[in-house]
Amino acid sequence: MQTMEMLHNNNPKIFYIEDQCFRWTFQAKKVRKIVEKHCKEGQVLNLFAGKTLLNVDDLRVDLSNEYNPDMNISAEDAINLLNKHNRKFNTIIYDPPWNERKAKEFYNGNYIGKFTKLKDGVVSLLEDKGIIISAGYEITNFGRIRNMKLTKIFVINPYGEIRPYFITIEKKINQTLPKFMTSK
Ligand SMILES: C[S@@+](CC[C@H](N)C(=O)[O-])C[C@H]1O[C@@H](n2cnc3c(N)ncnc32)[C@H](O)[C@@H]1O
Repeated sequence: MQTMEMLHNNNPKIFYIEDQCFRWTFQAKKVRKIVEKHCKEGQVLNLFAGKTLLNVDDLRVDLSNEYNPDMNISAEDAINLLNKHNRKFNTIIYDPPWNERKAKEFYNGNYIGKFTKLKDGVVSLLEDKGIIISAGYEITNFGRIRNMKLTKIFVINPYGEIRPYFITIEKKINQTLPKFMTSK
């Protein structure tokens, strides 16, 4: 049985990669390969699909219809709809606009509202042991509070004055409480 101490013992592997930073994140070739390589078997939920077509079987969701997503609705609505149909995924790709400024500059102001609620919804669509692949400036996107364990961090260095960013892998864990916490 896992103890709380084991659950909290987080030792993610860290990798250093040099690649560019694009408006459409996965146009960066090494970054795209990392994402494709980590997608597990089965259909992948690509929640902020954007422009880049990945070499995986993904269900593409985007609020903009510029690049013909499978579901042209907000991530929030997609999560509700998929939950209603009891859909679960082994892999979810989470690449929203990285901040409000980028949303205004690049994605017609399309942004996401309440992160907390949205993140709870994303995890609810994930199978046990499923993974979330995130891109952006944060390292821990979902966290232990949602039973997600950070397993890998890719630090992407675009060189020069451009900020580094991260691709992270978080895995859903079964949270088994120690006996003393469950027995009456
Ligand atoms: C960082 S880009 C994704 C880039 C994509 N991974 C690629 O490599 O092409 C963010 C995307 O999120 C979309 N978006 C913004 N707000 C959204 C929302 N609330 N629901 C769904 N999509 C949203 C934008 O239209 C944009 O395509």
